[in-house]
Formats: sequence, C-alpha cells, structure tokens
Amino acid sequence: MLDHGAPPQPGTPAGPPGGPGLGARLMRRKPVERLVAEGGHGEGGALRRTMGLWQLTMISIGATLGTGIFVVLGEAVPKAGPAVTLSFVLAGLTALFSALSYAELAGTIPVAGSSYSYAYATLGELIAWICGWCLVLEYGVSVAAVAVGWGEYLNELLDGTIGVTIPAALSAPPGDGGYFNLPALLVVLLAMAFLLGGARESARANTVMVMVKIAALVMFCAIGLQGVRSGNYAHFMPLGMAGVSAAGATLFFSYIGFDAASTAGEEARNAQRDLPRAIMLSLVIVTLLYVAVAAVAVGAKPWRSFTDSEAALAQIMRDVTGQSFWGTLLAFCAVVAIASVVLTVLYGQTRVLFAMSRDGLVPKVFSKVHPKTGTPRANTVIVSLFCGVLAAAIPLGQLADATSIGTLFAFALVNVAVVVLRRTRPEMSRSFRVPLSPVLPALGFGCCVWLMGSLSTVTWVIFGVWMAAGLVFYFVYGHRRSRLAAPETPATPEAK
Ligand code: ALA
Repeated sequence: MLDHGAPPQPGTPAGPPGGPGLGARLMRRKPVERLVAEGGHGEGGALRRTMGLWQLTMISIGATLGTGIFVVLGEAVPKAGPAVTLSFVLAGLTALFSALSYAELAGTIPVAGSSYSYAYATLGELIAWICGWCLVLEYGVSVAAVAVGWGEYLNELLDGTIGVTIPAALSAPPGDGGYFNLPALLVVLLAMAFLLGGARESARANTVMVMVKIAALVMFCAIGLQGVRSGNYAHFMPLGMAGVSAAGATLFFSYIGFDAASTAGEEARNAQRDLPRAIMLSLVIVTLLYVAVAAVAVGAKPWRSFTDSEAALAQIMRDVTGQSFWGTLLAFCAVVAIASVVLTVLYGQTRVLFAMSRDGLVPKVFSKVHPKTGTPRANTVIVSLFCGVLAAAIPLGQLADATSIGTLFAFALVNVAVVVLRRTRPEMSRSFRVPLSPVLPALGFGCCVWLMGSLSTVTWVIFGVWMAAGLVFYFVYGHRRSRLAAPETPATPEAK
C-alpha cells in the first residue's frame, strides 16, 4: 500500500522486507507532517523566520512585476491590438485559478519547496521531481530572461543620461548580434550579493524596489492618460480572439512569480496565515496595474506603431510629454523594477533547491546553511553563476518561452495536488480553501494545458529535452539518494 500522507513512524523501514518495487518507490509520498517538521532545517543550521505579510506580499510582487510589463508588452501589442488589455485579463484569470490552489497548499504545507513540496506530499516522488525540475525552468531560467530585459532598459537609461550605450557586442548574446550580455550577468551578481547578506536584508531592499516600480507604473498611467486618444481604441480587436489568446500566452510570462511567496514558507513568521494572503493580494495588485498600464499604452500610441521595441513604455512617456526626461525617469524605474525580479526569483530558486536537497534529490551542498547569515550560501553562489552565464549567453525570447512552459506545467500539477490532498487528507486544517473545488482547480488545470498548447514547437522540443535530462538525473542520482528511502534518518537536527 502506498503512503497516503499519514504521519511518519520514526524508525519505520521504507517498505516490506526486500524493499518496495520500483513503481511504489517512484510514487512514495512525503508525509505532510514530516515536510512541516523538517521545515527551516538544512545541513548545519536553520533558516530564520523573519518575514511578515508585508514582506511576503512584496516578495511576490517583486518577483512578478518586471520585464513582462516593461518589455514583453511591446511584443504582445502587435499580436492583439488594443485588445491586449483583454489578453492581460485572460492571462490573469489563468494565473488566478492556479493562485487559488497555491494559496490553499501554501497555507496547508508552509515549507520552502513551493509546488515541488506540494507534489511530494500528494502525487509522489517522481512527479515531485518533475515539478521541481520545472521550477528550475520557472525560476532559474526566468532569472536569466529577466536579466536580459534589464540590460535593455539599462542601455535606455545610459543613453538618456550620459548619451552612451553599451555596444551590442557586450550587451547582446550570440544570435542576437553580440558576443556576451554583460549587463545581464552584472544584475545577477548584484542580486547574489544581496542574497548572501541575508533574507531579511534582501527582503528590505526588495520592498524599496517594489515601491519604486509601483510608483513608476502609476506615474506612467497618470502622465500617459494625457496622451490617450479614443481613436486608438477604434478597432479594438483587429486580429480577433485568436490574437487575444496568442498575446495572452506571451503575456502569461508577466504573471510568473506570484507564487514566489510560497518559496519563503520557512522564513515566514506566520506562514499558514500569511502565505495565502500574500499570494492573492499580490495577484490582485499586479493584475490591476497591468490592465491599467496596457489600456493607457494602447490609448496613447496607435497599436500598429508598436514594433518589437524593447523600451516601449519609456518611449510613450517621451512622446506624450515631448521631453526626454520622463522617458529616462521611467527607464531608471524599470532598471530598479527588473532588478527586484532578479533578486526575488533568484531567492525562490535557491529555496526550491534547498528543499530538494534536504530530501536527498539534489546534492547536499544546496541545503547547507551558513551559521552567520542563516542563508544557504553555497547554493546561492552556484545558482547565481548558473543563471548569470545563461543570461549572458542566450536571447530573451527563447528564455521567456521556456520559462512559460515550465511554469504552466508546475501550475497544472498544483491544481491536481490541491484536489488530491483534499481527498487523501480531508481532516487537515486549511487556513485558506479554494472555493468550488474541484471545479476551479479543474479550470486552472485546463487553462494551463491550453496555454501550453499555444506555445511553439521549438519551445516544446526544448521542454522535451529538458525533461529527458531531468529524468536521467533523477534515476542516476535522486532516486537512489532520496531520504524517503531511509526515513529513519530525518533531517531535523533535534532528531539526529
Ligand atoms: N513576471 C516576471 C516578469 O515579468 C517574470 O519579469
């Protein structure tokens, strides 16, 4: 019989004499109580619980608001015309269904691994591994994608202030007209420096940056409103519903990150109460901002004149005011805004790997906690170098789509996990419950699969190769070293 999440019996062997069969091993689940009991503990130390609702909400907004609205919006408008506002609503709805499921699971299993841990408790080790592997796409690869967008606004800022730009050879990857994206690497290293300083310090820096980006978008709406012409909305849906949904799939990228608070479950003071609230609050704030900014942008600038311009919002500010100052100010805010995405998403990636390492599925070095700062230092350095090199060497478009497919897959699994946990552990206390379950999780699952279907064949091929590599790693490494194979050696220091 498979483990259905019952509390662990210390010292109980993994299975019947001779060990369970391969199928049972692949489906072994980590009991929720054990997940929660191990929470906070790593190799040689514990994470510190320092964050409240405010910081958690800021982490989620910090990880969400960035390249999507400042850069990808410009790429989505030609696909949908003024109806890009609807595309944001569509992508937001997809995010909302999954956010509800995240909120329920984050409140029930408040640990660091986000959907990886939820899948481990409900769908078994193999699916959990696949989910964790997808989260590396969501977090690790999106750090790289976002860092590339940062470099574009940095150039805009340098141009507006000192009249120079970093030459393409040093600010674009091979395939995009350059050799190496130096700014993208720099912003990742900067974020690494903050994270090494400590979670609390990083959260503080992030809060300031989030304030700057919200202020920048509100300023954009206030000033851009003066340039809005009703004629620009005249052909609202020039490319039909197909255009709206194609733009929606692209813009889904801009919602990625609302789940970041769920990676901070072991550093939250009252995780069960605050995580669901932070996730829902951040999604509502971000959606309102997106729709307002998109409506102003397509009202102030005819949709046909949106080319694939990287710094679309800064250009609109310049055109509306006739002064380059406002465009440059917006570019400055975008530089700050996107840096906070890099910081928080990098943070999320380190915490997911922390949880996977504690379970034995990736090497132990990822769960080593530095005694002085209470942070996983080696993990932070390794992840930053990986993301930095990726950001420096690969073009944004390819990275963004790979991020989206990995994220959608992980979200789809979370929607399944919430229903499974309701059935297997109905008695557990839940600080937040998805209304109308299983209808809304089913809608969330359906939306994710539908958006995955609208991504290109190339993206699917990249995803297939990524998954195949993940499965090889799992069978060669994680499967054998999983701590669940030896439940008599729990990770909590007290139990040692
Ligand atoms: N949602 C994040 C951004 O738009 C990835 O930058």
